[in-house]
Amino acid sequence: MSWLVTGGAGYIGSHVVYETLRSGRNVVVLDDLSTGIKSRLPSELAFEEVTLTDRESVFGVFNRHSISGVLHLAAKKQVAESVLRPDYYWQENVIGLQNLVDAMNANDVKNFVFSSSAAVYGSPDLPFETQITETTNCMPINPYGETKLEGEHIAESCAENFGFKVASLRYFNVAGAGRPELGDQFIFNLVPIVLEALQNGQQPKVFGDDYDTPDGSCIRDYVHVQDLAEAHVAAMQFVENSNATFMPINIGTGKGSSVFEVINKISDVTGIDIEPLHVDKREGDPAALVADVSRAHEILEWSSSCTLDDIIQTAWDAWQKSH
Ligand code: UFG
Repeated sequence: MSWLVTGGAGYIGSHVVYETLRSGRNVVVLDDLSTGIKSRLPSELAFEEVTLTDRESVFGVFNRHSISGVLHLAAKKQVAESVLRPDYYWQENVIGLQNLVDAMNANDVKNFVFSSSAAVYGSPDLPFETQITETTNCMPINPYGETKLEGEHIAESCAENFGFKVASLRYFNVAGAGRPELGDQFIFNLVPIVLEALQNGQQPKVFGDDYDTPDGSCIRDYVHVQDLAEAHVAAMQFVENSNATFMPINIGTGKGSSVFEVINKISDVTGIDIEPLHVDKREGDPAALVADVSRAHEILEWSSSCTLDDIIQTAWDAWQKSH
């Protein structure tokens, strides 16, 4: 029996694949390679180049392999793109998920780890010290977050109606690399954006410096992708061994870092002096988003072990290897 990792050729997915193999389980990867890179994976791994919107092909994967559980990471994840192409995001993230759970159900596969996001919380108007718990209201503010929340609803309904056991992992800000060749190849988030600016001799931008936070910049909860991968394996083991039906779980560190702190850390690690540009706030950015991680700790017996230093150092090592 194998665990199916959808999106397994992606940045996060490939870390999950290696961590799953390390735990002694067999893996089948499903990926349409739209953003995934096959050479990240061991060449002997069972690999299905399939897009989730192709319902027949998704069913075919379950016919060809003996699957006991699914870790579902394949999805579109750029907030800005989702605002421009909401229908496309709905098609990929929601219809794709529906095809997957239908194929699971038809093959009596009930163990499910869903890749959700702190984007489901939207922009909660809370003091910066407040940690977000899983019972905080979910009010996404962009189509990406809406597709993740709808995905949770579909998974929850599968739990209620078909006996699925679901852990829905709400990732906070993921960065770093578990090994240099698995780094994030896309320049969409703060750490790679700053590294690219440095490479091009430009000043990185800080979006807003008068938030109600200690240094005025936004605070986020940066979690190392390797820790996140370990959380997936723990989540699937929890799902396999429990009677739980649907369980949303925050995956972060419980510790916030401001944009200035991240930039200063990048300066320390790279040895490059950085003078960031202070620019206007970005629309929709909450002042702070930091996870309450007690549920992950209690239920998965998981907590992050990497520091912001580890995140920046490994992101920098990966960046140097690929540039
Ligand atoms: N930021 C800057 N300058 C930049 C880029 C980002 O100041 O050039 C700031 C943002 O304003 C924000 C922080 O850095 O305060 C992090 O921004 P990212 O764009 O890296 O990440 P977000 O917090 O906006 O969103 C990320 C993921 C989402 C996910 C969310 C969950 O991209 O998919 O974390 O917390 F939903």
